Amino acid sequence: MALSLSARLPSCSSSVFEKAHKLTTQPPILPFPSNLAACGCTLLPASMGVARRRRQVVGAVEEQHNQTSVLAPKQSPSYSSSKLVLVIGASGGVGQLVVASLLSRNIKTRLLLRDPSKAISLFGLQDENTLEVREGDTRNQNDLDPTIFDGVTHIICCTGTTAFPSKRWDGDNTPERVDWEGIRNLVLALPPTLERLVLVSSIGVTKYNVLPWSIMNLFGVLKFKKMGEDFVRSSVVPFTIIRAGRLTDGPYTSYDLNTLLKATAGKRRAVILSQGDKLVGEVSRLVVAEACIQALDLECTKRKIYEINSVEGDGPGSDPEKWRELFESAETN
Ligand SMILES: NC(=O)c1ccc[n+]([C@@H]2O[C@H](COP(=O)([O-])OP(=O)(O)OC[C@H]3O[C@@H](n4cnc5c(N)ncnc54)[C@H](OP(=O)(O)O)[C@@H]3O)[C@@H](O)[C@H]2O)c1
Repeated sequence: MALSLSARLPSCSSSVFEKAHKLTTQPPILPFPSNLAACGCTLLPASMGVARRRRQVVGAVEEQHNQTSVLAPKQSPSYSSSKLVLVIGASGGVGQLVVASLLSRNIKTRLLLRDPSKAISLFGLQDENTLEVREGDTRNQNDLDPTIFDGVTHIICCTGTTAFPSKRWDGDNTPERVDWEGIRNLVLALPPTLERLVLVSSIGVTKYNVLPWSIMNLFGVLKFKKMGEDFVRSSVVPFTIIRAGRLTDGPYTSYDLNTLLKATAGKRRAVILSQGDKLVGEVSRLVVAEACIQALDLECTKRKIYEINSVEGDGPGSDPEKWRELFESAETN
């Protein structure tokens, strides 16, 4: 059954989006470099314009889809127009790709953004029946009021901040506040009708006091992500947790030298997916975004935790059957 979003959310969504449009007199704050320097990450080039970055997001997603010859997402029977996916962390590296990919599949999407003006600069003007924008900060329980979740069937949460102190911690936006308190607030606010919460987490969360993870965890990022995970697991929420390796390829935060040099979003497509916390490696943001979207529809991924890496080679692209096989085989490896 198709949702009538305009009937449900007439004034709020449009006013926020209009506000966002009016506010967009300047490019959004360029994402601050992740302080994952220990993992080789370097600066985002400040000269990279908003339009260019947006073209890259959309282009990267289109490239991903073009590489999948079996089923174009729009024609895939597994994508239903009855979904309304709330994306939290949509202005981030993985989040941008998730949103672009949902839009390319004609899946109705709602964004929860601390700064709604970023929606226009990142995703352009969109029909509000397809893309809604709400303002909110997961640290504030009051921002997660029931209207945020009205009609929402699925949530993909890819919030995060830097592992080490940086400008992105301004206003106390620390790992403790975002990865622990923000996730706890979210879980406490979720409606019982939610069909799936997909949470992007990190490899190493179960080993935060063991080298080399303890270096990454100097300011607690892995510990607080684990606390967030544990709170999700202790709830009755139908969740899927995706523990990502070090993020590579494309947009546009935590931009790393590898990506700058190779300037490719197309090679690291072969997916390594398993359960537990054994992997040590990297994963393309495109692959993480695709895994999040594919997991939404797979019953076998409900209340499961996966870890994901990707390596050069052909991957599942956006083929639902290949992803199903990957998730199912992850049960045993
Ligand atoms: N970087 C890595 O190598 C790595 C490795 C493993 C896992 N991860 C994790 O993977 C996830 C995605 O990574 P990424 O690089 O795509 O993240 P990112 O670019 O740092 O984006 C983080 C997103 O979270 C949002 N956010 C931050 N604080 C928030 C708050 N208080 N309330 C609401 N939204 C908030 C940001 O919005 P604003 O625009 O408002 O700041 C942004 O949209 C993160 O959880 C990250 O920690 C990263």
